[in-house]
Amino acid sequence: MCGIVGYVGHRPALDVVLDGLRRLEYRGYDSAGVAVLDGGGLAVERKAGRLANLEARLDEVGRDGFAGTSGMGHTRWATHGAPIDRNSHPHRDTAERLAVVHNGIIENFAALRAELEAAGVELTSDTDTETVAHLVGQAYAAGETAGDLPASLRAVCRRLEGAFTLVVTHADEPDQVVAARRSSPLVVGLGEGETFVASDVSAFIEHTREAVELGQDQVVVITREGYTVTDFDGEPAEVKPFTVDWDLSAAEKGGHEYFMLKEIEEQPTALADTLRGHFADGRITLDEQRLSDQELRDIDKVFVVACGSAYHSGLVAKYAIEHWTRLPVEVELASEFRYRDPVLDRATLVVAISQSGETADTLEAVRHARGQKARVLAVCNTNGAQIPRESDAVLYTHAGPEIGVASTKAFLAQVAANYLVGLALAQARGTKYPDEVAREFHALAAMPDAVRTVLERTEQIKALGRELSDAKAVLFLGRHVGYPVALEGALKLKELAYMHAEGFAAGELKHGPIALIEEGLPVVVVMPSPKGRAVLHSKLVSNISEIQARGARTIVIAEEGDETVRPFADELIEVPAVPTLLQPLVSTVPLQILAAEIARSRGYDVDKPRNLAKSVTVE
Ligand code: F6R
Repeated sequence: MCGIVGYVGHRPALDVVLDGLRRLEYRGYDSAGVAVLDGGGLAVERKAGRLANLEARLDEVGRDGFAGTSGMGHTRWATHGAPIDRNSHPHRDTAERLAVVHNGIIENFAALRAELEAAGVELTSDTDTETVAHLVGQAYAAGETAGDLPASLRAVCRRLEGAFTLVVTHADEPDQVVAARRSSPLVVGLGEGETFVASDVSAFIEHTREAVELGQDQVVVITREGYTVTDFDGEPAEVKPFTVDWDLSAAEKGGHEYFMLKEIEEQPTALADTLRGHFADGRITLDEQRLSDQELRDIDKVFVVACGSAYHSGLVAKYAIEHWTRLPVEVELASEFRYRDPVLDRATLVVAISQSGETADTLEAVRHARGQKARVLAVCNTNGAQIPRESDAVLYTHAGPEIGVASTKAFLAQVAANYLVGLALAQARGTKYPDEVAREFHALAAMPDAVRTVLERTEQIKALGRELSDAKAVLFLGRHVGYPVALEGALKLKELAYMHAEGFAAGELKHGPIALIEEGLPVVVVMPSPKGRAVLHSKLVSNISEIQARGARTIVIAEEGDETVRPFADELIEVPAVPTLLQPLVSTVPLQILAAEIARSRGYDVDKPRNLAKSVTVE
């Protein structure tokens, strides 16, 4: 949601913080701000809009007051209060000696604000964060916690409801930065004579790969020498050190105009890395399995919960898991799941899919499921994020950092990981023989090459994207596993090109949506294999001929050598022949390229679509 970074060290804090914010900007880009402790003072600057606006503002006012070596910064995705200058973080207390940046939502902020106003404090923003600045400022100024910044923050945290990460600096404490975490992410980076805190490691990966993951309800104090962690009551608390297994180049554009284009190209590697190490001695293994094979055998129903693209990956999983395990699978939007009283018990497996591992809707679905005694297996791309921490078993996707807001390589890695989950279940339950599991795994292991072949057609797809950039709307059709692909293709186009796009199950067309077809309307059709699903293939050919007869411009994604469909395709994009269930891994890729190129041709920022943020930590 928001990106936050704090620093104490030997370099100019402003440079370190601005660099960190640049890498965290994918988390939100409604405004940005910095605070630097300098010569007994606290210099703050903040500006609505992208980080570039803040930098321009700093150039305008001069960077003289910002020479210190400790400070912090924030990049915002607005929740409370419009994205304007005065709502931008950092927020200060009345004395303007203390500054706070915040990621998350303080749910009881209205009561806290009323309390402050009743005491005569004048609030200058509409945010929940400003209340924290005043409360910590008051706690530091007088009373039991006077002069003790960590204790002041702990005391305030005990009063806060909701999910939050807070970073606090005080002009009187230039050698420390203090931070707190409840639910929203926070990691510490350990350098030589310098220490960092940030929403994620990309903010400091340039300086160190040694990191520490904070737990729930913890306060950390960082200094040049290192860090100390306590719980909200001041008791020493346990943390998890880890070494980041990717470096700066993975978080940089590598010559591409946009991160998204680089991430589309990285998909073969993302798939290979996700599969690596999960099949040894003839068996599929997960990463952290706190569930026994017996518990997996006792499962009688699977729910998949996720949002957005992750949800689409879950829709694909349904076909594979049901086919391989004969278990009923329901796929549910995480935001709907816990509000409709789903029937869950000890024999239910809930698969929670999340790239970030911090999506609030999915996290709450996980909590609800565990509260009902269901077993939860997380599929996640972020080591140690909250969703895997709260799950019974974890399978990590190894897509590496995904900076483009629209999910591409993480989506493909999720699809692959979901297949592994299906095979792990089939193996534990004996619904597939070991040699069948091995065959399926080897078919999966061949997919990075198949995706490479699709990527060779990038220029053809981009040229088509440029032609389509003036279209008013685009429809996407698919059947069987091609249906979630159609939904994903439409989502990519909506979020990147701000174009009306709709995905349909092709068989549903005649039940209503066919009325939308008019002369020249582009319709993208995801074909099944003529060999793998011959019956569906011929039905889909009929569907295409129906829409072509009504004037649609048909863009067909079909298996190489599929001659039957050629006469019905105004544009044909060929993908390699792969096993039926694995087709989404190849057929999604052209749709990603198409959406990115249409958005680019329309002049939009492909990495940072309007109104969106990479991880959504509010419900
Ligand atoms: C779309 C997209 C979003 C995410 C969704 C879930 O391109 O990226 O729809 O898939 O917000 O996010 P995670 O996977 O982090 O839970």
